[in-house]
Amino acid sequence: MGFTNMASKQNVLGIGKTESGEGPNIEEYNQIDPCILECFPKTRFPVDLYHWREEIQTLTPVYRAGREVDRRLRTTVMGLSEQGVLFFTRNQIKDYTACVACNLNAALDDPNLTWDEKAGVFIGELGRRQDAFFSHPMAQELDDLDKALASLCVYLVEDSRRMNKVVHDVHCCLAPERRRINASLLALAVYMEMHRGDITLERLETVALGFFLYDIGMTRVSPMMIARPQQLTPSEQRTMREHPKMGLEILSRLNLTRPEISEPTIQHHERLNGSGYPNKLAGDRIGHFGRIAAVADSYCAMVTDKPARKGLAPIAAAAELVTNDRQYDQAVCRTLVRFLQTVPSSL
Ligand SMILES: [Fe+2]
Repeated sequence: MGFTNMASKQNVLGIGKTESGEGPNIEEYNQIDPCILECFPKTRFPVDLYHWREEIQTLTPVYRAGREVDRRLRTTVMGLSEQGVLFFTRNQIKDYTACVACNLNAALDDPNLTWDEKAGVFIGELGRRQDAFFSHPMAQELDDLDKALASLCVYLVEDSRRMNKVVHDVHCCLAPERRRINASLLALAVYMEMHRGDITLERLETVALGFFLYDIGMTRVSPMMIARPQQLTPSEQRTMREHPKMGLEILSRLNLTRPEISEPTIQHHERLNGSGYPNKLAGDRIGHFGRIAAVADSYCAMVTDKPARKGLAPIAAAAELVTNDRQYDQAVCRTLVRFLQTVPSSL
């Protein structure tokens, strides 16, 4: 395989043959930063690695993906990375991307990833850390989620149009297992849209945490009860209606008492006309964050596929919300609709 001259510090174009022997086949090779290399598993790297040898303008293979890595090879590879001469082929970007998620700050600065690929990395990793916290709501899991949210907020504050990409990804997957993170991201999108030009990074991080934890009380409800398609018995309904209070208890135990964080949890099932639960709050007694969480949660419940039926189309779900001014804050609903109109294929 031959290679062209280095196109830039980060990229090399390689010219070789296709696997069938018909060529030429042009591949792009990207430089690997030492921060990213640290994210790779210690014993087996996920991608083939190449050494760019400036003196002969050639990439030479140094590692084949999947082979065991000993200490000597690891030291060699790290040295090449520090010199800026370690590369991988972009044909293996999926395997590469799967590993960089462990360091979201490094992923954010990684010139090898497009903004679309970065959004995918964020959603995947945030979902994983959100699930970890919901399975085990302790300080370490909270810290992991908080760090990922801090990186997400930097990503979004740098350019608010990136939220469109995130919400587009929400609508690409409406499976039940994505409902939790989809509702969290959508609530955050609506908040950012309503407060354009008026957002500090510190405040956004706190607000984001509130929206990512709002349904934590559901972890205290039996999964069998949640999954059952039949209607709940009166006693089960009472248990279900307690989950916001149970969520608040979990947050209090972790000293998460700021209204930006507690309000979505305790108020996301309250409705403006007092028909909601657990406290039958009405009107102004429901706060801004509770109202946003209520709309995002209801919208995602409507569009998510259920075991017995497919979810509503986004336009049908949005129409239900904007015609229900007795229950939902219409400023929030209109913002959601306006936001969805900017997202390709959502409405
Ligand atoms: Fe809930």
